[in-house]
Amino acid sequence: MDNSPVVTQVDTSLNYTQKDGLIVRFSSGEVAPTPVVSNSQTQDSMSRETDFDSRMMQRCLELARRALGRTSPNPLVGAVVVKDGEIVGEGFHPRAGEPHAEVFALRAAGVGARGATVYVNLEPCNHYGRTPPCSAGLIEAGVAKVVVGMVDPNPLVAGGGIARLRAAGVEVVVGVETEACQQLNEAFVHRILYKKPLGILKYAMTLDGKIATTAGHSAWVTNQAARSEVHQLRAACDAIIVGGNTVRQDNPFLTSHQVGAHNPLRVVMSRQLNLPETARLWDTQEAPTLVLTEVGANPDLQKTLLKHGVEVMELPVLTPQHAMMHLYEQGFCSVLWECGGNLAASAIAQGAVQKVMAFIAPKIIGGSHAPTPVGDLGFTSMTEALPLERVRWRVVGSDCLVEGYLPQ
Ligand SMILES: NC(=O)c1ccc[n+]([C@@H]2O[C@H](COP(=O)([O-])OP(=O)(O)OC[C@H]3O[C@@H](n4cnc5c(N)ncnc54)[C@H](OP(=O)(O)O)[C@@H]3O)[C@@H](O)[C@H]2O)c1
Repeated sequence: MDNSPVVTQVDTSLNYTQKDGLIVRFSSGEVAPTPVVSNSQTQDSMSRETDFDSRMMQRCLELARRALGRTSPNPLVGAVVVKDGEIVGEGFHPRAGEPHAEVFALRAAGVGARGATVYVNLEPCNHYGRTPPCSAGLIEAGVAKVVVGMVDPNPLVAGGGIARLRAAGVEVVVGVETEACQQLNEAFVHRILYKKPLGILKYAMTLDGKIATTAGHSAWVTNQAARSEVHQLRAACDAIIVGGNTVRQDNPFLTSHQVGAHNPLRVVMSRQLNLPETARLWDTQEAPTLVLTEVGANPDLQKTLLKHGVEVMELPVLTPQHAMMHLYEQGFCSVLWECGGNLAASAIAQGAVQKVMAFIAPKIIGGSHAPTPVGDLGFTSMTEALPLERVRWRVVGSDCLVEGYLPQ
């Protein structure tokens, strides 16, 4: 097996690179603190990924996913304790304020944790937050080895947890199934690095690029399989944003439509606030709704909304950037833009969108004035087009999903 140190550029759009499993920002001038690790330690712990390690790390990710949409501002983390090739304890972080994955896994393992190997998809924390440091907990439990999926970019951790474990004589392997680990926590990483939630623009369009008919009718562009995938996506996000027109035209629910699944905060951006009094989004039994508007807009509707339990927030100027700032302050990591083209263009122009998920249905609706997914960006030359990076194509039922990242 090749034991030479590996330098992998993992995510160019996020402006950081991973060197020896350590995340380092390379263009903003800020460098995450890196632990003091000797070369022999680094070489000793690199590139030892085995099939078994991969399987255990995938199990961590599976466990972590059980808390999808519920952990922000914290990451999704799962942990597995292995002794003599057998899993003796498992756990995941259920939500912010509750113990971390390692604590649950160690509890489940009990005395079995002594001399065991612990797998965890994110570096164990090393600081007192709402819970004590996991690095100390692992040392106290007497584990022999810790296998870490990726380094925590949080400056409060950023290699410190790994350094502390190694200083205590625990063997640490970093960088198993790293890509999958980064994918799972991409929104958390974005929040930490950019102090903004990750904005995901999702839309469904026909093959001729329309998101609705000329009359504004859009139910449904895609098939059931694609819509189910959107429901899962909602369950993984902290908030969904639509604009006033989408409420007026589509009257959407915007819930995850799955028993027991998380429902994100539904956010309506409306400057005018000339919205119907009976929209489905005003039913807050199943999911909360926040209306962002401008100072003094339609006080009568505001009163009605408050009676329904809808939160209304007036901003001096309503922009996608201000909306994202507010949601960041609420501790959110991921925001799904499910709006129409006008708001989408505004969100892209203001840097509120990093990822695009376009569902394309093989049907043609036509209509020279039918709405399209992105309104006017002010570009006149094809050379100005925003090229997506890390593009993936996937067939979903009879539709197609194109995913990619906007250049930062
Ligand atoms: N197929 C799909 O994936 C999909 C998804 C969503 C929507 N749609 C369709 O899209 C159409 C609506 O398109 P739309 O672009 O008007 O969508 P929208 O989602 O309603 O966004 C536009 C509205 O957002 C509000 N807004 C607040 N701040 C804004 C800002 N800074 N910039 C721009 N808008 C701001 C305004 O509401 P106020 O006018 O209330 O002030 C504006 O009318 C509908 O026909 C709907 O069916 C399709």
